[in-house]
Amino acid sequence: MGFVAIAAADELAVDEMKAFELDGRRLLLVRTADDFYVVDEMCTHEDYSLALGCIKGRRIKCSLHGSYFDLATGEPDEEPADEPICSYRVKVENGQVWVDPAQTRPESRCRR
Ligand code: FES
Repeated sequence: MGFVAIAAADELAVDEMKAFELDGRRLLLVRTADDFYVVDEMCTHEDYSLALGCIKGRRIKCSLHGSYFDLATGEPDEEPADEPICSYRVKVENGQVWVDPAQTRPESRCRR
């Protein structure tokens, strides 16, 4: 599939996110102060949308039981979640944010 444009680069403010579907997957675009991230929308603890949580620096918090996930590595750093979410390759080009849902970021720890 390769990279797909998913949003205008100025569509989200810092610490905002947007859920979307691509290639049958539920994903989440997140803008932090430093970068854009695309991660799995659903928490790995239970099937609960991380879009209902909040952004803290480079982490996203699940609002159901409070696990935090690193947006680059996908690693949870607070229990009860113990499996990473996937974080995908993103680029910003021509005023658009692009994601390749077939490629995880080099630092992503998910096993897919
Ligand atoms: S559903 Fe996310 S921490 Fe439990």
